[in-house]
Amino acid sequence: MGGGGISAAFCVHTFIREVMNMIRPMTHRQQLLLASGCGLLFLLAMLLVWMFMLQKEPEEPKALPAETTAVSSETSTESIYSTETTTQTETSTVETTAATTVLTTVTSTTVTTTTTAATTTTTTTQTEVIPVESITLTFYEVQLTIGETAMPIVTMHPENASDKSEIWSTSDNNIASISGWGKITAKAEGECIIRVTSAGNPEVYAEVHVIVTAPPPTEPPTEPPTEPPTEAPVEEPPVTEAPAVQPTYINGILVVNKTYALPADYNPGLDPTCKAQFDILVQAAAAEGLNIYLSSGFRSYDHQARIYNNYLNWYGQEKTDTLSARAGHSEHQTGLAIDVNTITDSFGSTPEAAWLAEHAHEFGFIIRYPKGKEHITGYKYEPWHLRYLGLETAAAVYSSGLTLEEYLGITSCYAE
Ligand code: DAL
Ligand code: ZN
Repeated sequence: MGGGGISAAFCVHTFIREVMNMIRPMTHRQQLLLASGCGLLFLLAMLLVWMFMLQKEPEEPKALPAETTAVSSETSTESIYSTETTTQTETSTVETTAATTVLTTVTSTTVTTTTTAATTTTTTTQTEVIPVESITLTFYEVQLTIGETAMPIVTMHPENASDKSEIWSTSDNNIASISGWGKITAKAEGECIIRVTSAGNPEVYAEVHVIVTAPPPTEPPTEPPTEPPTEAPVEEPPVTEAPAVQPTYINGILVVNKTYALPADYNPGLDPTCKAQFDILVQAAAAEGLNIYLSSGFRSYDHQARIYNNYLNWYGQEKTDTLSARAGHSEHQTGLAIDVNTITDSFGSTPEAAWLAEHAHEFGFIIRYPKGKEHITGYKYEPWHLRYLGLETAAAVYSSGLTLEEYLGITSCYAE
């Protein structure tokens, strides 16, 4: 037995000896009264314990999903008490170290306590709030003509998420507006991003890239003007000087990147040879059961300016410059670039993207912004962006394993 055990035994022994010394001088009647009193007290104590055990125990809150248990957590508790009713709310917030996802678990516990002279009744209600973790849509890109509408179907995950309400927003209300329940209405030519955010967990959202084009041209008026114009129109002198920028050709290749720009009035439309080769590529892919389609071809200077500004609204300049070219610096203005299918990261893991990476050069195209070469091209990996170089050059660039910048020994960076 250890030192602690010996002292406990000694204390008990001393206590019994003292009690016996106290009881011994008492009369038999006094000893009987003392024993009855102790017995009653014991019974009363047992009764209280039994009543306490009858009360319903509150349920344990459910454990967080395994993936969230390894991250740091902070818990704060607030309580409000009154004489008859007690309301207790516990809020626990879990944040990933990368700060990309925030999961919030809210546990509300309402405890109502009614006390009478002899009994106590406690009722406990507990609700666990399950946060939305991701959102999927039926489409992530849509092309509309002015006046047309579209509505993606939204699915919030997990299915048992407590608050699946949606908040809709648009990066440019002049191009496409959005209703409270997700109906997109195309209003003016251009591109913008429609976003749906989880109201319960605003860190989670999904986006639709909206491209609005003008409706097909209407028939020209058949009636000639009734009266010829009386005065010949006066020719206005040009107010601006000729653009200082000129297209740059290196080894016969038209080069456009962050270093090399095109004049604002360079407006060739989609190059016919590029389009014809793309159509052949599409057919070759289709023969292998793959679906490749053009989602963005030629873009004018102004069109590119609108796209860039939309990105700017969402992401700020630094990130935007890795996603979108400034006006005058987009390959789409050459008429020799084509974006295919969905302009989303997930396109990179489709069989279509794998096929393009392997075969695009056979049709005269290269994947212009490859993975791992972001510091050279200046842009994020874009598995969907094809640049037409012609059969010979595309094959040579492909075989070199280099980007166009490396192949030609040039840079891609803005002057300022
Ligand atoms: N997304 C490419 C870089 C462009 O805007 O031309
Ligand atoms: Zn592109």
